[in-house]
Amino acid sequence: MESRFTPDLEDADSVLIIDALIESGEAYVSGSRLAEQLGVSRPAVHGKLEKLREEGFAVEAVRNRGYRLVSRPEILHPALLRALLDRAGSRIGLFCFTRIDSTNSEAERRIASAEASPFAVVSSGQTSGRGRLGRVWHSDSADNLYLSVLFEPNIPPQQLQHFTLWAGISICRRLQTFVPGADLKIKWPNDLHFEGRKFAGMLTEAKLDADGIRHIISGLGLNVNSQPESYPEAIRGIATSLQAIGCRPLPLNEVAAGVILAIEEAYDICIEKLETTDTLAEAWHPLDALSGKPVTAILRNQEISGMACGIDQSGALLLELPDGRVEPIRAGDVTLKK
Ligand code: BTN
Repeated sequence: MESRFTPDLEDADSVLIIDALIESGEAYVSGSRLAEQLGVSRPAVHGKLEKLREEGFAVEAVRNRGYRLVSRPEILHPALLRALLDRAGSRIGLFCFTRIDSTNSEAERRIASAEASPFAVVSSGQTSGRGRLGRVWHSDSADNLYLSVLFEPNIPPQQLQHFTLWAGISICRRLQTFVPGADLKIKWPNDLHFEGRKFAGMLTEAKLDADGIRHIISGLGLNVNSQPESYPEAIRGIATSLQAIGCRPLPLNEVAAGVILAIEEAYDICIEKLETTDTLAEAWHPLDALSGKPVTAILRNQEISGMACGIDQSGALLLELPDGRVEPIRAGDVTLKK
């Protein structure tokens, strides 16, 4: 079922109210100021605030002072997410769903029907979540995030790998701010790990034609507030969540906004050539989960084992083989040797 996004007038009002409440922080916003901003009567503002309360916002009302935001919803809330993105200056459009087959598939359908890009598709659950290499992505928990961001860049396909890796770096850095002190890592190419357990995976899909890339979809499955004990047996011992890592629940909408902004930043670095202080390999190095560890890379029908030693400037994983040669691995699956 589709939820709402900003072009809807009622939602645009919710976004404005939420923005004003966030902006004023601990201070109160007067009802008359909200009414003026929205171009509606004060009773109408009251009604809109009632609706926000029903949706999980705690808003304190004090006579002669106004309204103050006390707490925000714990579940995905489209207008809150839109307000957070707007406040950060994002140019990404937003479509939110309570349940969908796959956010990557929905992004494909939207672009096929000429939706303006860039945009994000966010859902609280997926019925056919897809992982890398044809795997299934378990998508039952509404405490997690399933999202895709679509761009239409004008770049040669060789730059795609850079975007995928920068997206991992940028997301990992953002998420680190939600779990300070935890050493979050990236397992090449872009699984996010903590102490050897995976808590997020990315599926980047692109449509190419003779002129280059038509669109890129960056899909992220992120375990936010789910309990690892409740995971399907196949992944129970090898997966974790940010809540389990940080020992406290995280604000889902703020995390969603953070990762969308991180993907937007990665796009700006790779495609819009935003200035960065570090190169891809330099940015990768401190987050690299594999460096200095023995790994096996599975490439189609062939297995190559060696010591992982970072990535090269093209984004390929470097494996030092037993005979001392260094082999770049450009695609495939990599496992850590026990
Ligand atoms: C992996 O580690 O195998 C990648 C998992 C990617 C899952 C995300 S969830 C949102 C988006 N929609 C999908 O169907 N897949 C990606």
